[in-house]
Amino acid sequence: MAAPNIDTIVSLAKRRGFVFPSSDIYGGLGSSWDYGPLGVELCNNVKQSWWRWLVYERDDIEGIDSSIILNRMVWKYSGHEDTFHDPLVDCRECKSRLRADKLQVSSGETVTAGADVAAMIRQKQVKCPNCGSTDLTDPRPFNMMFRTTLGAVADEDDPTALAYLRPETAQGIFINFVNVQTAMRRKIPFGIAQIGKSFRNEITPGNFILRTREFEQMEMEYFVHPDVEHLQLVDEWVEQYVEWFTTLGLERVNLRLREVPPEELAHYSKRTVDIMYRYFPERAEEERQWEELMGIAYRTDFDLRSHSNKPVDDEGKRINPDSTEDLSYFDEATKQRFYPHVIEPAAGVNRTVLAVLMDAYSEKKNDKGETRVILKLRPRLAPIKAAILPLAKNKPEIVGMAKAIKRSLQPVLRAVYDDTGGIGKLYARQDEIGTPFCVTVDHQSLEDEAVTVRDRDTWEQERVKVADLAEHLQMRLKE
Ligand code: GAP
Repeated sequence: MAAPNIDTIVSLAKRRGFVFPSSDIYGGLGSSWDYGPLGVELCNNVKQSWWRWLVYERDDIEGIDSSIILNRMVWKYSGHEDTFHDPLVDCRECKSRLRADKLQVSSGETVTAGADVAAMIRQKQVKCPNCGSTDLTDPRPFNMMFRTTLGAVADEDDPTALAYLRPETAQGIFINFVNVQTAMRRKIPFGIAQIGKSFRNEITPGNFILRTREFEQMEMEYFVHPDVEHLQLVDEWVEQYVEWFTTLGLERVNLRLREVPPEELAHYSKRTVDIMYRYFPERAEEERQWEELMGIAYRTDFDLRSHSNKPVDDEGKRINPDSTEDLSYFDEATKQRFYPHVIEPAAGVNRTVLAVLMDAYSEKKNDKGETRVILKLRPRLAPIKAAILPLAKNKPEIVGMAKAIKRSLQPVLRAVYDDTGGIGKLYARQDEIGTPFCVTVDHQSLEDEAVTVRDRDTWEQERVKVADLAEHLQMRLKE
Protein backbone atom coordinates (compact mmCIF):
# COMPACT_ATOMS: atom_id res chain seq x y z
CA MET A 1 0.00 0.00 0.00
CA ALA A 2 1.07 3.60 -0.52
CA ALA A 3 -0.19 6.81 1.11
CA PRO A 4 -3.78 7.56 0.06
CA ASN A 5 -2.90 11.22 -0.62
CA ILE A 6 -0.23 13.88 -0.06
CA ASP A 7 -2.10 15.29 2.97
CA THR A 8 -1.45 12.07 4.90
CA ILE A 9 2.29 12.63 4.37
CA VAL A 10 2.07 16.35 5.24
CA SER A 11 0.60 15.51 8.62
CA LEU A 12 3.01 12.63 9.34
CA ALA A 13 5.95 14.78 8.20
CA LYS A 14 5.08 17.59 10.58
CA ARG A 15 4.13 15.39 13.53
CA ARG A 16 7.29 13.30 13.33
CA GLY A 17 9.88 15.91 12.41
CA PHE A 18 10.44 15.33 8.70
CA VAL A 19 9.14 18.60 7.23
CA PHE A 20 7.72 21.73 8.88
CA PRO A 21 5.94 24.70 7.26
CA SER A 22 8.60 27.40 7.01
CA SER A 23 8.38 30.72 8.88
CA ASP A 24 5.29 29.33 10.59
CA ILE A 25 5.51 31.67 13.60
CA TYR A 26 5.06 34.63 11.23
CA GLY A 27 2.15 33.09 9.35
CA GLY A 28 4.33 31.05 6.98
CA LEU A 29 5.75 31.94 3.59
CA GLY A 30 3.75 30.60 0.64
CA SER A 31 4.81 27.01 -0.07
CA SER A 32 8.12 27.12 1.81
CA TRP A 33 9.13 24.16 3.90
CA ASP A 34 11.89 23.42 6.41
CA TYR A 35 13.36 19.95 6.74
CA GLY A 36 13.45 18.76 10.35
CA PRO A 37 15.82 16.30 12.07
CA LEU A 38 14.45 13.27 10.20
CA GLY A 39 13.80 15.09 6.92
CA VAL A 40 17.39 16.25 6.59
CA GLU A 41 18.61 12.67 7.14
CA LEU A 42 16.18 11.30 4.54
CA CYS A 43 17.21 13.95 1.99
CA ASN A 44 20.89 13.24 2.67
CA ASN A 45 20.32 9.52 2.25
CA VAL A 46 18.54 10.03 -1.09
CA LYS A 47 21.33 12.32 -2.30
CA GLN A 48 24.04 9.92 -1.12
CA SER A 49 22.30 7.04 -2.84
CA TRP A 50 22.21 9.01 -6.12
CA TRP A 51 25.82 10.15 -5.81
CA ARG A 52 27.02 6.64 -5.00
CA TRP A 53 25.07 5.17 -7.91
CA LEU A 54 26.34 7.66 -10.52
CA VAL A 55 29.67 9.01 -9.33
CA TYR A 56 31.13 6.05 -7.38
CA GLU A 57 29.67 2.93 -8.96
CA ARG A 58 30.17 4.05 -12.56
CA ASP A 59 33.53 4.93 -14.08
CA ASP A 60 32.38 7.65 -16.45
CA ILE A 61 30.95 10.38 -14.20
CA GLU A 62 32.63 13.16 -12.18
CA GLY A 63 30.98 15.31 -9.52
CA ILE A 64 31.15 19.08 -9.04
CA ASP A 65 29.59 21.77 -6.85
CA SER A 66 29.29 25.09 -8.69
CA SER A 67 28.09 28.49 -7.45
CA ILE A 68 24.41 29.33 -7.11
CA ILE A 69 24.97 32.89 -8.31
CA LEU A 70 26.72 32.98 -11.67
CA ASN A 71 27.72 35.75 -14.02
CA ARG A 72 24.52 37.14 -15.56
CA MET A 73 25.91 36.35 -19.02
CA VAL A 74 25.46 32.64 -18.26
CA TRP A 75 21.68 33.17 -18.19
CA LYS A 76 21.73 35.42 -21.21
CA TYR A 77 23.46 32.84 -23.41
CA SER A 78 21.71 29.82 -21.90
CA GLY A 79 18.49 31.40 -23.16
CA HIS A 80 16.93 31.73 -19.71
CA GLU A 81 16.72 35.54 -19.74
CA ASP A 82 14.66 35.42 -22.91
CA THR A 83 12.70 32.21 -22.59
CA PHE A 84 12.41 31.02 -18.99
CA HIS A 85 8.87 32.29 -18.72
CA ASP A 86 5.54 31.03 -17.54
CA PRO A 87 2.36 32.59 -18.97
CA LEU A 88 0.79 34.69 -16.20
CA VAL A 89 -2.93 35.50 -15.98
CA ASP A 90 -4.74 37.59 -13.35
CA CYS A 91 -8.26 36.87 -12.17
CA ARG A 92 -10.03 40.26 -12.07
CA GLU A 93 -12.60 38.88 -9.64
CA CYS A 94 -10.52 37.34 -6.79
CA LYS A 95 -7.13 38.86 -7.81
CA SER A 96 -5.44 35.43 -7.96
CA ARG A 97 -2.33 35.14 -10.10
CA LEU A 98 -2.59 32.04 -12.24
CA ARG A 99 -0.58 30.07 -14.77
CA ALA A 100 -2.41 30.21 -18.08
CA ASP A 101 -1.46 26.65 -18.94
CA LYS A 102 -2.98 25.40 -15.66
CA LEU A 103 -6.39 27.04 -16.05
CA GLN A 104 -9.49 24.89 -16.13
CA VAL A 105 -11.89 24.60 -19.02
CA SER A 106 -15.58 24.52 -18.12
CA SER A 107 -15.59 20.70 -17.80
CA GLY A 108 -13.04 21.02 -14.96
CA GLU A 109 -10.04 19.70 -16.90
CA THR A 110 -6.87 21.75 -17.36
CA VAL A 111 -6.31 23.31 -20.76
CA THR A 112 -4.52 21.02 -23.20
CA ALA A 113 -0.90 21.70 -24.11
CA GLY A 114 -0.52 24.02 -27.09
CA ALA A 115 -4.07 25.39 -26.85
CA ASP A 116 -4.62 29.06 -27.69
CA VAL A 117 -5.33 30.11 -24.11
CA ALA A 118 -5.61 33.82 -24.97
CA ALA A 119 -8.46 33.08 -27.39
CA MET A 120 -10.09 30.76 -24.86
CA ILE A 121 -9.93 33.49 -22.19
CA ARG A 122 -11.53 36.04 -24.52
CA GLN A 123 -14.27 33.56 -25.38
CA LYS A 124 -14.83 32.92 -21.64
CA GLN A 125 -14.13 29.21 -22.08
CA VAL A 126 -11.74 29.01 -19.11
CA LYS A 127 -12.29 29.84 -15.48
CA CYS A 128 -10.33 30.75 -12.39
CA PRO A 129 -9.72 27.59 -10.31
CA ASN A 130 -10.13 29.65 -7.10
CA CYS A 131 -13.41 31.52 -7.63
CA GLY A 132 -14.75 30.15 -10.91
CA SER A 133 -14.82 33.58 -12.61
CA THR A 134 -14.17 33.81 -16.35
CA ASP A 135 -13.09 37.47 -16.05
CA LEU A 136 -9.36 36.92 -16.66
CA THR A 137 -6.62 39.07 -18.18
CA ASP A 138 -4.71 38.07 -21.33
CA PRO A 139 -1.66 35.89 -20.59
CA ARG A 140 1.67 37.70 -20.40
CA PRO A 141 5.16 36.22 -19.99
CA PHE A 142 6.56 36.17 -16.47
CA ASN A 143 10.28 35.38 -16.05
CA MET A 144 10.73 32.88 -13.25
CA MET A 145 14.32 33.72 -12.33
CA PHE A 146 14.81 35.37 -8.94
CA ARG A 147 16.71 38.62 -9.29
CA THR A 148 19.23 39.97 -6.86
CA THR A 149 21.95 42.64 -6.88
CA LEU A 150 25.61 42.09 -6.19
CA GLY A 151 27.68 44.37 -3.97
CA ALA A 152 26.84 47.74 -2.46
CA VAL A 153 24.73 49.23 -5.22
CA ALA A 154 23.17 52.67 -5.11
CA ASP A 155 20.12 51.61 -7.06
CA GLU A 156 18.22 48.31 -6.79
CA ASP A 157 17.63 48.39 -10.57
CA ASP A 158 21.29 48.93 -11.46
CA PRO A 159 21.71 46.58 -14.46
CA THR A 160 25.46 46.27 -13.92
CA ALA A 161 24.80 44.69 -10.52
CA LEU A 162 21.92 42.44 -11.62
CA ALA A 163 22.34 38.73 -10.95
CA TYR A 164 20.03 35.73 -10.66
CA LEU A 165 19.67 32.79 -8.31
CA ARG A 166 20.14 29.79 -10.60
CA PRO A 167 16.93 28.19 -11.88
CA GLU A 168 18.79 24.94 -12.74
CA THR A 169 22.11 23.48 -11.61
CA ALA A 170 22.89 22.43 -15.19
CA GLN A 171 24.53 25.69 -16.32
CA GLY A 172 27.20 25.43 -13.63
CA ILE A 173 28.13 22.12 -15.25
CA PHE A 174 28.23 23.43 -18.85
CA ILE A 175 30.47 26.38 -18.02
CA ASN A 176 32.88 23.97 -16.26
CA PHE A 177 32.90 21.37 -19.04
CA VAL A 178 36.45 22.14 -20.25
CA ASN A 179 37.76 22.58 -16.67
CA VAL A 180 36.54 19.13 -15.66
CA GLN A 181 37.44 17.44 -18.92
CA THR A 182 41.03 18.67 -18.90
CA ALA A 183 41.67 18.44 -15.14
CA MET A 184 40.37 14.87 -15.01
CA ARG A 185 41.76 13.93 -18.46
CA ARG A 186 38.37 12.66 -19.57
CA LYS A 187 37.40 11.40 -23.00
CA ILE A 188 33.79 11.45 -24.14
CA PRO A 189 31.43 9.86 -23.41
CA PHE A 190 31.52 11.03 -19.82
CA GLY A 191 29.19 12.85 -17.47
CA ILE A 192 29.29 15.56 -14.80
CA ALA A 193 26.92 15.32 -11.85
CA GLN A 194 25.85 17.99 -9.41
CA ILE A 195 23.44 18.29 -6.50
CA GLY A 196 22.27 21.66 -5.29
CA LYS A 197 19.60 24.23 -4.69
CA SER A 198 17.75 25.90 -7.54
CA PHE A 199 15.23 28.71 -7.39
CA ARG A 200 12.19 29.52 -9.52
CA ASN A 201 9.64 32.20 -8.83
CA GLU A 202 6.76 29.80 -9.53
CA ILE A 203 3.43 31.53 -10.10
CA THR A 204 1.48 28.73 -8.46
CA PRO A 205 3.66 26.71 -6.09
CA GLY A 206 1.88 24.08 -4.04
CA ASN A 207 1.15 20.48 -3.19
CA PHE A 208 3.57 20.40 -0.27
CA ILE A 209 7.20 19.90 -1.42
CA LEU A 210 6.17 19.02 -4.98
CA ARG A 211 6.35 22.55 -6.36
CA THR A 212 8.23 25.15 -4.34
CA ARG A 213 10.20 28.27 -5.18
CA GLU A 214 13.37 26.93 -3.56
CA PHE A 215 14.17 23.29 -4.24
CA GLU A 216 17.06 20.93 -4.77
CA GLN A 217 18.10 19.19 -7.96
CA MET A 218 20.27 16.18 -8.79
CA GLU A 219 21.37 16.81 -12.36
CA MET A 220 23.81 15.06 -14.63
CA GLU A 221 25.01 16.18 -18.05
CA TYR A 222 26.26 13.26 -20.12
CA PHE A 223 28.53 14.42 -22.97
CA VAL A 224 28.58 12.28 -26.11
CA HIS A 225 29.76 12.37 -29.72
CA PRO A 226 27.49 14.36 -32.11
CA ASP A 227 26.96 11.26 -34.26
CA VAL A 228 25.65 8.77 -31.70
CA GLU A 229 21.99 7.71 -31.45
CA HIS A 230 20.87 10.44 -29.06
CA LEU A 231 17.20 9.59 -28.98
CA GLN A 232 18.04 6.00 -28.09
CA LEU A 233 20.40 7.21 -25.34
CA VAL A 234 17.45 9.05 -23.80
CA ASP A 235 15.59 5.73 -23.60
CA GLU A 236 18.60 4.04 -22.01
CA TRP A 237 18.86 6.69 -19.29
CA VAL A 238 15.11 6.54 -18.71
CA GLU A 239 15.38 2.80 -18.14
CA GLN A 240 18.31 3.19 -15.74
CA TYR A 241 16.49 5.84 -13.72
CA VAL A 242 13.29 3.77 -13.49
CA GLU A 243 15.44 0.96 -12.15
CA TRP A 244 17.15 3.31 -9.67
CA PHE A 245 13.81 4.62 -8.39
CA THR A 246 12.65 1.07 -7.75
CA THR A 247 15.79 0.51 -5.66
CA LEU A 248 14.58 3.45 -3.54
CA GLY A 249 11.37 1.52 -2.90
CA LEU A 250 9.05 3.06 -5.50
CA GLU A 251 6.60 0.53 -6.94
CA ARG A 252 6.79 0.24 -10.72
CA VAL A 253 2.98 0.67 -10.94
CA ASN A 254 3.38 4.14 -9.42
CA LEU A 255 5.83 5.24 -12.12
CA ARG A 256 5.05 5.97 -15.71
CA LEU A 257 6.69 7.61 -18.69
CA ARG A 258 5.53 10.63 -20.61
CA GLU A 259 6.94 11.65 -23.97
CA VAL A 260 6.86 15.47 -23.75
CA PRO A 261 5.04 16.81 -26.85
CA PRO A 262 7.04 19.16 -29.14
CA GLU A 263 5.05 22.26 -28.14
CA GLU A 264 5.98 21.73 -24.48
CA LEU A 265 9.72 21.12 -24.97
CA ALA A 266 12.14 23.53 -23.28
CA HIS A 267 14.02 25.81 -25.70
CA TYR A 268 17.14 23.61 -25.54
CA SER A 269 15.51 20.21 -25.93
CA LYS A 270 15.03 18.03 -29.02
CA ARG A 271 13.39 15.30 -26.97
CA THR A 272 12.34 14.94 -23.33
CA VAL A 273 10.84 11.98 -21.53
CA ASP A 274 9.41 12.64 -18.09
CA ILE A 275 9.24 9.97 -15.42
CA MET A 276 5.96 10.59 -13.65
CA TYR A 277 4.96 9.49 -10.16
CA ARG A 278 1.41 8.85 -8.91
CA TYR A 279 1.36 11.73 -6.41
CA PHE A 280 -2.46 12.01 -6.51
CA PRO A 281 -3.83 8.45 -6.14
CA GLU A 282 -7.05 9.84 -4.66
CA ARG A 283 -8.10 11.45 -7.95
CA ALA A 284 -10.79 9.41 -9.67
CA GLU A 285 -9.53 10.11 -13.14
CA GLU A 286 -6.30 8.14 -13.79
CA GLU A 287 -4.83 10.80 -16.08
CA ARG A 288 -4.88 13.37 -13.26
CA GLN A 289 -3.03 11.20 -10.73
CA TRP A 290 0.42 11.84 -12.17
CA GLU A 291 3.01 14.59 -11.87
CA GLU A 292 6.60 14.87 -13.10
CA LEU A 293 9.21 13.28 -10.85
CA MET A 294 12.10 13.98 -13.23
CA GLY A 295 12.91 14.58 -16.89
CA ILE A 296 15.49 13.14 -19.27
CA ALA A 297 16.28 15.56 -22.10
CA TYR A 298 18.40 15.51 -25.22
CA ARG A 299 19.90 19.04 -25.07
CA THR A 300 21.94 18.68 -28.29
CA ASP A 301 25.09 20.87 -28.28
CA PHE A 302 22.93 23.91 -27.56
CA ASP A 303 24.55 24.94 -24.26
CA LEU A 304 28.23 24.28 -24.99
CA ARG A 305 27.88 26.01 -28.35
CA SER A 306 26.07 29.06 -27.03
CA HIS A 307 28.59 29.58 -24.19
CA SER A 308 31.51 29.42 -26.66
CA ASN A 309 33.25 32.37 -28.27
CA LYS A 310 33.77 30.75 -31.70
CA PRO A 311 30.38 29.86 -33.27
CA VAL A 312 28.97 32.37 -35.75
CA ASP A 313 25.48 32.95 -37.14
CA ASP A 314 24.39 32.88 -40.81
CA GLU A 315 25.90 36.32 -41.35
CA GLY A 316 29.24 35.31 -39.88
CA LYS A 317 28.67 37.25 -36.62
CA ARG A 318 29.80 35.64 -33.34
CA ILE A 319 26.74 34.40 -31.47
CA ASN A 320 28.52 34.98 -28.17
CA PRO A 321 30.80 38.04 -28.13
CA ASP A 322 31.00 37.94 -24.30
CA SER A 323 32.57 34.53 -23.74
CA THR A 324 36.35 34.19 -23.55
CA GLU A 325 36.36 30.39 -24.04
CA ASP A 326 35.63 27.78 -26.62
CA LEU A 327 33.89 24.81 -24.99
CA SER A 328 34.56 22.43 -27.86
CA TYR A 329 36.26 19.06 -27.51
CA PHE A 330 39.19 17.62 -29.48
CA ASP A 331 38.91 13.93 -30.22
CA GLU A 332 42.48 12.56 -30.32
CA ALA A 333 41.42 9.36 -32.05
CA THR A 334 39.69 10.98 -35.04
CA LYS A 335 41.55 14.32 -34.86
CA GLN A 336 38.16 16.03 -34.97
CA ARG A 337 37.06 19.06 -32.98
CA PHE A 338 33.36 19.40 -32.14
CA TYR A 339 30.83 20.42 -29.50
CA PRO A 340 29.72 17.31 -27.63
CA HIS A 341 25.99 16.64 -27.46
CA VAL A 342 24.30 16.20 -24.12
CA ILE A 343 21.80 13.82 -22.56
CA GLU A 344 20.52 15.29 -19.31
CA PRO A 345 18.72 13.32 -16.61
CA ALA A 346 17.42 16.01 -14.22
CA ALA A 347 15.77 14.90 -10.98
CA GLY A 348 14.39 16.78 -7.99
CA VAL A 349 15.51 15.80 -4.49
CA ASN A 350 12.27 17.01 -2.93
CA ARG A 351 10.01 15.24 -5.40
CA THR A 352 12.02 12.05 -4.93
CA VAL A 353 11.70 12.36 -1.15
CA LEU A 354 7.94 12.91 -1.44
CA ALA A 355 7.55 9.87 -3.71
CA VAL A 356 9.68 7.76 -1.34
CA LEU A 357 7.55 8.82 1.65
CA MET A 358 4.29 8.14 -0.19
CA ASP A 359 5.36 4.72 -1.40
CA ALA A 360 6.77 3.70 1.99
CA TYR A 361 3.56 4.59 3.84
CA SER A 362 1.57 1.61 5.09
CA GLU A 363 -0.87 0.75 7.85
CA LYS A 364 -1.18 -2.40 9.93
CA LYS A 365 -3.53 -3.50 12.73
CA ASN A 366 -2.00 -4.61 16.03
CA ASP A 367 -3.47 -7.47 18.11
CA LYS A 368 -5.78 -4.97 19.86
CA GLY A 369 -7.22 -4.03 16.48
CA GLU A 370 -5.60 -0.56 16.55
CA THR A 371 -4.23 0.86 13.29
CA ARG A 372 -0.49 1.54 13.28
CA VAL A 373 1.42 3.45 10.63
CA ILE A 374 4.59 1.82 9.34
CA LEU A 375 6.94 3.74 7.08
CA LYS A 376 8.55 0.92 5.12
CA LEU A 377 11.56 2.91 3.97
CA ARG A 378 14.39 0.98 2.39
CA PRO A 379 16.88 0.59 5.30
CA ARG A 380 19.59 2.63 3.55
CA LEU A 381 17.17 5.58 3.30
CA ALA A 382 15.82 5.33 6.85
CA PRO A 383 16.85 8.39 8.92
CA ILE A 384 17.54 6.16 11.94
CA LYS A 385 18.73 2.58 11.52
CA ALA A 386 18.29 1.33 15.08
CA ALA A 387 16.53 2.63 18.20
CA ILE A 388 17.87 1.37 21.52
CA LEU A 389 15.06 1.15 24.07
CA PRO A 390 15.30 0.26 27.78
CA LEU A 391 12.37 -1.85 28.98
CA ALA A 392 12.49 -0.16 32.40
CA LYS A 393 13.72 3.40 32.54
CA ASN A 394 13.79 3.42 36.35
CA LYS A 395 16.46 0.68 36.44
CA PRO A 396 19.86 2.39 36.20
CA GLU A 397 21.63 -0.84 35.12
CA ILE A 398 19.25 -1.30 32.16
CA VAL A 399 19.45 2.37 31.18
CA GLY A 400 23.25 2.31 31.46
CA MET A 401 23.50 -0.80 29.30
CA ALA A 402 21.13 0.63 26.65
CA LYS A 403 23.07 3.91 26.47
CA ALA A 404 26.37 2.03 26.19
CA ILE A 405 24.96 -0.06 23.32
CA LYS A 406 23.80 3.12 21.56
CA ARG A 407 27.27 4.64 21.87
CA SER A 408 28.95 1.47 20.62
CA LEU A 409 26.70 1.34 17.51
CA GLN A 410 26.98 5.02 16.63
CA PRO A 411 30.32 4.74 14.73
CA VAL A 412 28.88 2.15 12.34
CA LEU A 413 25.23 3.15 11.96
CA ARG A 414 22.84 5.89 12.99
CA ALA A 415 21.35 4.82 16.32
CA VAL A 416 19.25 6.66 18.91
CA TYR A 417 18.39 6.01 22.55
CA ASP A 418 14.78 6.63 23.61
CA ASP A 419 13.10 6.13 26.99
CA THR A 420 10.30 8.69 26.69
CA GLY A 421 7.39 6.23 26.86
CA GLY A 422 6.21 2.68 27.41
CA ILE A 423 7.68 0.08 25.07
CA GLY A 424 4.51 -0.19 22.91
CA LYS A 425 4.51 3.55 22.33
CA LEU A 426 8.23 3.58 21.56
CA TYR A 427 7.85 0.79 18.98
CA ALA A 428 4.91 2.61 17.35
CA ARG A 429 6.89 5.85 17.12
CA GLN A 430 9.88 4.13 15.49
CA ASP A 431 7.61 2.26 13.04
CA GLU A 432 6.05 5.53 12.01
CA ILE A 433 9.42 7.13 11.20
CA GLY A 434 10.70 4.07 9.36
CA THR A 435 13.38 2.81 11.78
CA PRO A 436 14.10 -0.74 10.56
CA PHE A 437 15.15 -2.13 13.96
CA CYS A 438 14.32 -1.60 17.62
CA VAL A 439 16.76 -3.05 20.11
CA THR A 440 15.26 -3.66 23.54
CA VAL A 441 17.34 -4.02 26.68
CA ASP A 442 15.48 -5.91 29.43
CA HIS A 443 16.16 -7.50 32.83
CA GLN A 444 17.44 -10.66 31.22
CA SER A 445 19.98 -8.64 29.20
CA LEU A 446 21.83 -7.93 32.44
CA GLU A 447 22.24 -11.68 32.92
CA ASP A 448 22.83 -13.04 29.40
CA GLU A 449 24.44 -10.03 27.64
CA ALA A 450 21.80 -10.34 24.88
CA VAL A 451 19.07 -8.01 23.59
CA THR A 452 15.83 -8.33 21.61
CA VAL A 453 15.95 -7.11 18.02
CA ARG A 454 12.50 -6.28 16.63
CA ASP A 455 11.84 -6.01 12.90
CA ARG A 456 9.79 -2.97 11.80
CA ASP A 457 7.84 -4.70 9.02
CA THR A 458 7.09 -8.12 10.53
CA TRP A 459 7.21 -7.14 14.23
CA GLU A 460 9.09 -10.38 14.76
CA GLN A 461 11.68 -10.45 17.52
CA GLU A 462 14.91 -12.36 17.95
CA ARG A 463 17.51 -12.53 20.67
CA VAL A 464 21.02 -11.37 19.72
CA LYS A 465 24.22 -11.29 21.78
CA VAL A 466 25.39 -7.71 22.40
CA ALA A 467 28.85 -8.70 21.14
CA ASP A 468 27.32 -9.67 17.77
CA LEU A 469 24.79 -6.83 17.53
CA ALA A 470 26.69 -4.38 15.26
CA GLU A 471 27.53 -7.09 12.75
CA HIS A 472 24.00 -8.53 12.91
CA LEU A 473 22.37 -5.16 12.24
CA GLN A 474 24.80 -4.21 9.49
CA MET A 475 24.11 -7.49 7.73
CA ARG A 476 20.34 -7.11 7.97
CA LEU A 477 20.48 -3.47 6.87
CA LYS A 478 21.88 -4.70 3.56
CA GLU A 479 18.82 -6.94 2.93
N1 GAP B 1 18.07 21.28 -16.14
C1 GAP B 1 16.80 20.82 -16.58
C2 GAP B 1 15.74 21.11 -15.64
O1 GAP B 1 15.92 21.87 -14.70
P1 GAP B 1 13.23 20.65 -15.12
O2 GAP B 1 12.31 19.60 -15.65
O3 GAP B 1 12.79 22.07 -15.18
O4 GAP B 1 14.59 20.44 -15.89
C3 GAP B 1 14.14 19.05 -13.28
O5 GAP B 1 13.61 20.31 -13.61
C4 GAP B 1 13.49 18.52 -12.02
O6 GAP B 1 13.64 19.48 -10.97
C5 GAP B 1 11.98 18.30 -12.14
O7 GAP B 1 11.68 17.07 -12.76
C6 GAP B 1 11.59 18.30 -10.66
O8 GAP B 1 11.89 17.07 -10.07
C7 GAP B 1 12.52 19.36 -10.10
N2 GAP B 1 11.81 20.64 -10.02
C8 GAP B 1 11.67 21.56 -11.00
N3 GAP B 1 10.96 22.61 -10.56
C9 GAP B 1 10.64 22.36 -9.27
C10 GAP B 1 9.90 23.07 -8.27
N4 GAP B 1 9.40 24.27 -8.49
N5 GAP B 1 9.76 22.50 -7.04
C11 GAP B 1 10.30 21.27 -6.78
N6 GAP B 1 11.00 20.58 -7.69
C12 GAP B 1 11.17 21.10 -8.93
